Amino acid sequence: MATTTTLPMTKTSLRSATDLGYKTFTAGKFRFERDEYFAHIHFPGGRHIIAVDAFLRSLMRDVAWGFFYGTVNFDNVFGTVNHYGTVEMFAGLFNKGYKDANRHYVEKFQSTDLKATFEAMLIDWTNEGFDPFAAPEETGRPFGPKKGSNEKAVQRQRVVAQRMVGLKGDSPYRSDASGYPVNRQFTDVPQDEPEIHAEPGFETEVHAFNLYGYLSRSDVTWNPSVCSGVKDSLMCPTTEEYILPIIHGNDRVEWFIQATDEIVWDVDDKNTGAPMAKVTMRAGDVAAMPANIRHRGYSPKRSMLLVWENNDGRLPSMYANQELKPYPVEF
Ligand code: PHB
Ligand code: FE
Repeated sequence: MATTTTLPMTKTSLRSATDLGYKTFTAGKFRFERDEYFAHIHFPGGRHIIAVDAFLRSLMRDVAWGFFYGTVNFDNVFGTVNHYGTVEMFAGLFNKGYKDANRHYVEKFQSTDLKATFEAMLIDWTNEGFDPFAAPEETGRPFGPKKGSNEKAVQRQRVVAQRMVGLKGDSPYRSDASGYPVNRQFTDVPQDEPEIHAEPGFETEVHAFNLYGYLSRSDVTWNPSVCSGVKDSLMCPTTEEYILPIIHGNDRVEWFIQATDEIVWDVDDKNTGAPMAKVTMRAGDVAAMPANIRHRGYSPKRSMLLVWENNDGRLPSMYANQELKPYPVEF
């Protein structure tokens, strides 16, 4: 008869979430724990592990964007699907392996409830000195036992201009005085402002500002903000450096205009994650991201990207029912 020996875990290094000072969170049948390096996600039938820096960067976006448009994949297993009022949280829903083996798990929540849980988790799990919105070069590290907090960073409000940045009563400009210095990688961006000569009576209607100057002063990365809106047409420019934390699964077409420098995009099938394309966008390039894909961008140097969103709430079902083709033009 064979004898078995159980080798113990070395207790000096493995400490539980509570020993480390972090709270454990639950939402429905999902349970979230963090340790020094990882977020652990438990759900009926499985468990998942994500590096805590990547997890917090994704969580930050999911919270700040109110679950965004369509699917926010934290990686190829875990994420959320926005149903605009309710939200689904899933493990394996858009992963061929999990789906084929019927090991995926999905649960629906009121958006306000899940957002509150996510906010509390983000606040508790973010240590002093770590800013999940900042480029890795511009922030401290998230690892180790609980040490302080960074509520100011994780409670940032996303810019949402009603008409346009700089109009009376709308989102303000950025300046040194308001705490937005020019970023280290945009010191060559001209800061002059356009002259506006409106006909009498149109002073509050005609407007222009230096968008490049405005973006050069952004202190966050991968955070499209609404800088101007006309009905459902939303101009959402953003400054990008390193990697888009989430993999975005579209529920509509969105347009990209690369305003400076370069971003490389991985484009994969929305449902299975199978690779479909690599898109390299250089300054001046324009692309439409189709409604049936997921994508993640890589920006080697801080760059400026204009994301053009169509906020029409009828679009997701029109694409889902194939009333609309997944791409916007045929050549
Ligand atoms: C996108 O998913 O389209 C997206 C998200 C964040 C960005 C840029 C693009 O900063
Ligand atoms: Fe996207």
